[in-house]
Amino acid sequence: MFKKIMALVAVGVLATACGSGGDTTAEGGAPATSGGGDSTITMGFAQVGAESGWRTANTKSVQESAKAAGIDLKFSDAQQKQENQIKAIRSYIQQKVDVIAFSPVVESGWDTVLQEAKAANIPVILTDRAVDSPDKTLYKTFLGSDFVEEGKKAGQWLVEQYASETGDVNIVELQGTTGSAPANDRKSGFAEVIGADPKFKVIASQSGDFTRAKGKEVMDAFLKANPDIDVLYAHNDDMGLGAIEAIEGAGKVPGKDIKIITVDAVKDGMQALADGKINYIVECSPLLGPQLMDLAKKVLAGETVPERVVTEETTFTQEQAKQALPSRQY
Ligand code: AHR
Repeated sequence: MFKKIMALVAVGVLATACGSGGDTTAEGGAPATSGGGDSTITMGFAQVGAESGWRTANTKSVQESAKAAGIDLKFSDAQQKQENQIKAIRSYIQQKVDVIAFSPVVESGWDTVLQEAKAANIPVILTDRAVDSPDKTLYKTFLGSDFVEEGKKAGQWLVEQYASETGDVNIVELQGTTGSAPANDRKSGFAEVIGADPKFKVIASQSGDFTRAKGKEVMDAFLKANPDIDVLYAHNDDMGLGAIEAIEGAGKVPGKDIKIITVDAVKDGMQALADGKINYIVECSPLLGPQLMDLAKKVLAGETVPERVVTEETTFTQEQAKQALPSRQY
């Protein structure tokens, strides 16, 4: 609806501007000025799925923020499948929404559908996860965490913890969804930091698809194949929580026999950290909704927005988790 009204306004403005040869449309065809009438913005949001506590909190943040901002949200859940996300985006294009936002399941393979959105003059905003397309004109901005930095923070904690250790430190890694930006970047950031000292050995690394069930299943297999695991690095809390069940099932004490580092800092993860079952969590904030709605409004008003908006995040030790838990929002 927003677009129809804006189109009518733009036609009117263009008619007056024609004599002077003025161009009243902003980059990407969005009208530069808004008029009265029903100016409700419609946003199509293609979510990854509901794989983790982080994702649930992210969905809630997007839905609540859209409501608060008066934006009409069309929401779809891709169940962690790229083809479902592509279908959802195509359907938003057909429905002529004003703006499309999505969190890409994986990094590659988006150019065609993004070109279709661009051809339809529908701006796209990436949230949470990146695409690897070299053509930056296919989206207006990317709002989300610096996942490489998160991996580095996890590695730095480990390096400090084992500073006085001289023997090998055997690490197993539970990766996120194969091909996803957080799995790629959290792996590379971590590897870069621990790679400076050869005593750190990643003896097994496999995807647990960011889910608790898969985290447990893969950790079970790691434990059977490797009797001497010192450290588990899980790319999210949920996989770490599943792994804790596997470790306890194998008669070991999580947080003591095997040190655990995770990413996210959702409530369940923070509780396990406060209980001593996880040793360190790198925060990744899912509360992207308010900034997303703000960016969407700016993009549609033809304002310039930064190419990249990085979320501010921290880290938590066991003591810090105890203090933060009572006021944790998600
Ligand atoms: O893209 C963010 C990641 O996706 C979160 O860290 C993870 O929990 C989620 O599934």
